Amino acid sequence: MNFSTTAESIRGSKNAALDEIARKRVFDGKRVTDFSKGELSISPPSEFLENAGRAIRSGLHGYTEAIGVRALREQLAAYVNDRYKIEASADEIAVTAGAKPALYGVMLSIINPGDEVVVLTPYWSTFPEQIMLARGIPKVVRCIEASGAIDLLALDESTTASTKAIVINSPNNPTGVVYSDSSVKEVIRIASRHGAFVIFDQSYYSLTFETDRTSSFRDLVCDYDRAVIVDSFSKCWALTGWRIGYVFAHPSLINLLKSIQTHTNSNPNSITQFALLWTLEGSGVGRYEMDLVAMLAKRRDRVATALSTISGMSFPRPAAGFFAFADSRCTNRSESTGQSADELCREMLNETGVLVVPGSAFGTSYGFRISYAGDEQQLDEGLNAMVEYFR
Ligand SMILES: Cc1ncc(COP(=O)(O)O)c(C=O)c1O
Repeated sequence: MNFSTTAESIRGSKNAALDEIARKRVFDGKRVTDFSKGELSISPPSEFLENAGRAIRSGLHGYTEAIGVRALREQLAAYVNDRYKIEASADEIAVTAGAKPALYGVMLSIINPGDEVVVLTPYWSTFPEQIMLARGIPKVVRCIEASGAIDLLALDESTTASTKAIVINSPNNPTGVVYSDSSVKEVIRIASRHGAFVIFDQSYYSLTFETDRTSSFRDLVCDYDRAVIVDSFSKCWALTGWRIGYVFAHPSLINLLKSIQTHTNSNPNSITQFALLWTLEGSGVGRYEMDLVAMLAKRRDRVATALSTISGMSFPRPAAGFFAFADSRCTNRSESTGQSADELCREMLNETGVLVVPGSAFGTSYGFRISYAGDEQQLDEGLNAMVEYFR
């Protein structure tokens, strides 16, 4: 059968093989401590759930405007204003079915065949695949390994007249690193020299524990009209399955997203839209977010403490989100076996039942990602098993 070469070039999930081993373990009655999942195991805010019930009871089951109901776009403009100190208007907002389709819509809107889009490693694995689906070329630039910070010199060298966009994911998946204000400013400067877009994936922004951020987003971006914000409620409100996010961008880009959504998913889920609208209109879920951030910061401390006890293990200290990215190359275990990260993760799963995602899923040849979003009870158990494994 002849299929699209573009579709055939897309790589599926890298950790599928590990997932299979994990399932087999569970089937055999063995324990698996799952540190691989990128979603919280807690409930969404109760206000949101109540509002979703109200939307169902109100019979809001029909199509909506392709980029979301106007009232929600207005609420999200106010939300952007509040968070980023940008005077956004509803015409600069498109509601999407989460950050993933938002990013894909942006890629489709800006990339011409052969355009380069810069992504920084370690990266969230969807970025390069979406760029290729949109017929662009991912241009990979390595971050500084020890700190996870942007290597601005390397970024500058790699950004050329062929660069259509730079993707910035801060707080970052998989490292949990928040890029400094000065580096974000420099990214804008580099991009503006070539008229490139800067796509900010802010999916973990609300889950920031600590940052040296002193400037508002507006100060950093300085009205650069090619700055695009992509954000969603998947991570900060534990709404991964409800599918809701948004794009803030220049109205001309929003119009393209509208055309694309009209012909692809028609509109984001109507019940989710109204539940979000009424929740944002209400007293807000500030307390929920504060408690979540405090809980995740404590978990981060437990992960950091455990990793620090492993001789030779290094990792950028996560400042947000629920991931840590551990570099095990200098541990006794890795030095004595010379294993690749993929082999190490497979062996660790087989020996201890701890499931992590190897660096190859994030465009690096080393390290692995630990997620601490999951079950509270399993956290210490898994960390202890990991420490034991490297002893
Ligand atoms: C960096 C990043 N962006 C976007 C997403 C997708 O989020 P959503 O569920 O809103 O599509 C994820 C999910 O893992 C992510 O890690």
